[in-house]
Amino acid sequence: MTEITDKNVVWVPYLDGAALVESAISFPDTEKGMLFYRGYPIDILAEKASFEEVAYLILFGRLPTEKSLRSFQKEMKEKQYLPNGIINTIRTLKPEISLFNMTAIGVLSLAQYDNDLENTALEKNYERALLLISKFPIITANAVLAKTGAGQQFISSKLSPLSNFIDLLNIWMDEKMERAFEVGQILCCEHEMNASTLAVRTVASAGSNMYLAVLAGLSAFAGIYHGGASQFVVKMLKEIGSSDNVQKWVNQKLAAADKKDRIIMGFGHRIYKGAGSDPRTIILKRLAKNLIKDSKHQILFDTAKALEKYIGEKKNLCANVDFYFALVNHFIGFRAEISPLIYAMARIAGWTAHYIEQFHDPKGRILRPRAIYIGPKDQKWIDLENRK
Ligand SMILES: CC(C)(COP(=O)(O)OP(=O)(O)OC[C@H]1O[C@@H](n2cnc3c(N)ncnc32)[C@H](O)[C@@H]1OP(=O)(O)O)[C@@H](O)C(=O)NCCC(=O)NCCS
Repeated sequence: MTEITDKNVVWVPYLDGAALVESAISFPDTEKGMLFYRGYPIDILAEKASFEEVAYLILFGRLPTEKSLRSFQKEMKEKQYLPNGIINTIRTLKPEISLFNMTAIGVLSLAQYDNDLENTALEKNYERALLLISKFPIITANAVLAKTGAGQQFISSKLSPLSNFIDLLNIWMDEKMERAFEVGQILCCEHEMNASTLAVRTVASAGSNMYLAVLAGLSAFAGIYHGGASQFVVKMLKEIGSSDNVQKWVNQKLAAADKKDRIIMGFGHRIYKGAGSDPRTIILKRLAKNLIKDSKHQILFDTAKALEKYIGEKKNLCANVDFYFALVNHFIGFRAEISPLIYAMARIAGWTAHYIEQFHDPKGRILRPRAIYIGPKDQKWIDLENRK
């Protein structure tokens, strides 16, 4: 039993259920198992909206008019270009470092091309948000190219950053795949106060600039318990092999001595436990099913469904967004290690919106929780020469 010895401390282990700030950006209704961006259910957005419309909505709090959407798209096309210095920086990195590390260096390098870094006016921060949303896919694509030893390639001013990302990676998509990719982006845009958004808001609350805050978000996101999870899903499904092997595989996995080895990637969620499902998963599962092209895909999908069912029964854990997102990306043709970065490309919209909400909150205060001290007390000083 944890003993609280400081009367100024409230014990909320791992911030489970603790609300730290007010936010008007998104609302996961964990009782009903629904997710809303600025009051709009994600189902409607996934059905009707474009990624740019949703990014605009998340950033500015309202749906764009036709005119404002056109100018938003135009600005994104203009802002997506990377300075040669950043491309060269990425290309000089050792290919052994992870894609996340490469991309993070690219993001941080953006600050040196901001000639007005001290200017923290709201308008300026909106401009930076748009710049980050536009450049991030191009940074990521350059990181992938550099890592795989491919030569430098050029983007088209006619294409959006997401379309250029797809082109740079030489991925061919039919219309169905294009829409699945876009809906994936829409569903990954924003998700309230997860670990990476908390990191972004903490940095913003301390008064640091948006590049550093997004870097903090990306760093938290890279972890295997957060955005990093999706890269392991397809490998795991291939290892299981078929739906017939699911029970045996899960039982073996859950019997591992070490807790870390018992974790099954793409399952569990801190806030959707009561709801029984992650609302994004339902849509992504439908998309994945729609993209099945051959028997190999069918086997993976059937294995995924069987795994979802069995883990639900056995551990009462739901498949989370990363699970079917990974499958959608695989069916489109992306390599597994790129999947988390594709997710992060979308999440930049949420991170920058949270940065702005936190940084420009007139009532905003620095985020400063406490810890329960469990170390030794009343230690007696011993001079160096007398220590053993
Ligand atoms: C997402 C995640 C970090 C949430 O963690 P959390 O809210 O702290 O989860 P809890 O600790 O409350 O989980 C309850 C129990 O289920 C277990 N559990 C949770 N997720 C599990 C998983 N994916 N596989 C196996 N067991 C899992 C926990 O170990 C815990 O078991 P215990 O009671 O024996 O200690 C966790 O579910 C996880 O690591 N999932 C895999 C990584 C992943 O897919 N991340 C993407 C998140 S969108």
